[in-house]
Amino acid sequence: MPIHYYEKSKSFKLDAKDTSYVIAIVDEEQFLGHVYFGEKIPDENVNYLMRLEEPPFIPSKNNRDRMSFLDSFPTEYSTGGLGDFRESCLQVMTKSGISACGIFYNSHKIYEGKPKLKGLPATFGGEKDCTTLEITCMDKNLNLEVVLIYTVFENLDVITRSVRVKNCSNEDIILTRVLSACVDFDRIDMDMITLHGSWARECHICRRSVNLGKQGISSARGESSHQVNPFLAVMDKSATEDSGEVYGFNFVYSGNFFAQAEGCQFDTTRVIMGINPFDFAWKLEPQEEFVAPEVVMVYSNSGIGKMSRTFHDLYRNHLIRGEYKDKKRPILINNWEATYFDFDTEKLLSIAREASKLGIEMLVMDDGWFGKRNSDNCSLGDWVVNEYKIKGGLKYLVDEVNKLGMKFGIWFEPEMISPDSDLYRAHQDWCIHIEGRVGTLCRSQYVLDLSRREVRDYVYESLRNILLSANIEYVKWDMNRQLSDVGNSILPPERQREIWHRYVLGVYELMDRLTTEFPHILLENCSGGGARLDPGMLYYSPQIWISDDTDAIERLKIQHGASYVYPVSAMGTHVSDCPNHIVGRITPFETRGLVALSGTFGYELDITKISQEDRNMIPKQIAMYNKYNDLIRGVHRIGNSFENPEFYCVKYVAKDKSEALVVYVQVLNRPNYHSRRIRLKGLRKNAFYRNEETNEVYSGSTLMNGGFLIKGLWGDFKCILLYFICEQN
Ligand code: GLA
Repeated sequence: MPIHYYEKSKSFKLDAKDTSYVIAIVDEEQFLGHVYFGEKIPDENVNYLMRLEEPPFIPSKNNRDRMSFLDSFPTEYSTGGLGDFRESCLQVMTKSGISACGIFYNSHKIYEGKPKLKGLPATFGGEKDCTTLEITCMDKNLNLEVVLIYTVFENLDVITRSVRVKNCSNEDIILTRVLSACVDFDRIDMDMITLHGSWARECHICRRSVNLGKQGISSARGESSHQVNPFLAVMDKSATEDSGEVYGFNFVYSGNFFAQAEGCQFDTTRVIMGINPFDFAWKLEPQEEFVAPEVVMVYSNSGIGKMSRTFHDLYRNHLIRGEYKDKKRPILINNWEATYFDFDTEKLLSIAREASKLGIEMLVMDDGWFGKRNSDNCSLGDWVVNEYKIKGGLKYLVDEVNKLGMKFGIWFEPEMISPDSDLYRAHQDWCIHIEGRVGTLCRSQYVLDLSRREVRDYVYESLRNILLSANIEYVKWDMNRQLSDVGNSILPPERQREIWHRYVLGVYELMDRLTTEFPHILLENCSGGGARLDPGMLYYSPQIWISDDTDAIERLKIQHGASYVYPVSAMGTHVSDCPNHIVGRITPFETRGLVALSGTFGYELDITKISQEDRNMIPKQIAMYNKYNDLIRGVHRIGNSFENPEFYCVKYVAKDKSEALVVYVQVLNRPNYHSRRIRLKGLRKNAFYRNEETNEVYSGSTLMNGGFLIKGLWGDFKCILLYFICEQN
């Protein structure tokens, strides 16, 4: 059993693949303490690590220094207001104006499998993969029950956490913060990694020291955001891609979040993660419950690379669902960068005709097909086909595309409303707004109030009508602005601050309805690129458009950063036109193809206008995608585009190590006497590998220790692909 309760030491030991996590019940009052998180250990009792025999001692021995105890005790779930002055996970507001809480162990249960979290996305696993521990704690003063939920994935180094809070009193209680995870590390000598950016520059890696004081990340934008991803890792200062201890935390949620590493007075570090307490309040009536979203915790004893591969394996097998979970995704061509709003049936068909000849499998019609939308200033909410542009109607267009042997996909932005729309004219109050205030526009649009059922029903019916009207096999679900002016005319004052979270729950409900009624549709999420690149979205859509920046060189960094957490098979990647529309850079078509190979792969250009030379390369690129797609799973990052901007190198190795693919991009050339030596990773030491192109054979250990020589490539932005096949063991 991967979870044990040891009566003698009153401790819980959670054992994942190579990881142990220990919690103990402490003293007569039954405080819940965090004892250990790291490499797997066999002992039944490691409670000495909590230093309870040292001053200030446990309260039953020294209650006069209770505050010192509370302020240094490694707690399992922190609560504020009673003497623990570090970051708190739970805070309330009672009728009498009290905000403090204190929780104590009450009971527990251990069972096989993993519970669902009501209304929320979460990782899943069967009875064979997962074991769950629920520890029920009580604040007897408030009559508040707090259930800490842990699930161990036995074959991965993964423990997930969430929290359920129940009001057992007979008065309303307002929750003003409910975070999902807290880990007190008994060390401060660590580095921390987070992923930052902006629109078109997502997931840039930021590595810094954990220092005394608070270093955190958060989003208060109503989405997980371009600016920072809901991911945080702490690690040995010496940790590298392949060595050292690394602890990764990722939040399975698509709205406001908060994560922080706090270096504390006695050189300990408290890491917390959960819904951002900023502007959050949730009213619990007697007997009501609140469920906090899941945090995934990954431990790696072999560097950042192993952490990433664990996240990828977990998400591919235990988060992403649906028909396309393990299937190769159709190679698509999207008309956004090809035409923007300027298209009609004939233009789309001309793209489809050319694309189908070259082996492209799906046409995606992007923004601009509905209402009277010819620019981004109107019609969101009016999901009615514009028959001036789509002459002959949607069904005609889709049938014609199908006749070419291609699938058809469509773009929606279901969460939005343009002030210039029939929907807004009919239902002004359906957008998120503050009564009496002029709302803040962004891209000329407001956000629909999806916390309201009638709004969700309208949105769903509009989507459904379109989806039933033709053979649509793919939906790109976009979301192009952040939430502001958060209020509505429905909820009572004391529930107004619930809108942020209710909105996210509304989005999840809509996606659930869509994926349940249309299980054959491939859903791709997008939020102006990667503003909702998060595991919450991956639960509904097996792929996410990770950035509007399609420049191959910019993408090296974006894809590198995103691969810290998210599987390559889930990242939307397209070959686009040159000069690139975002940065104006000119890169070879071949390099654009190779960079897009590290993802779902597709095109986003006017294929009728590119050079014949580029067009000729498309069938070759498609063949490469088909040949290597299954292999693009086990990622080993070799170069680091952030530390060495001269080149980029990533390697994919089959799970059984029988094949390996190396993608190498030389960013800037420089005069050099020598070729560049690349040491490969993740191969079998004693096996022999043949370079498919040259037929040269090398041992795995030579390729990993001696390396492979990449000869000078003439020019900037040049690339090379190497494919090694295992010949003999
Ligand atoms: C967002 C998306 C783009 C495109 C446009 C359409 O920016 O990220 O891919 O769909 O919207 O308006």
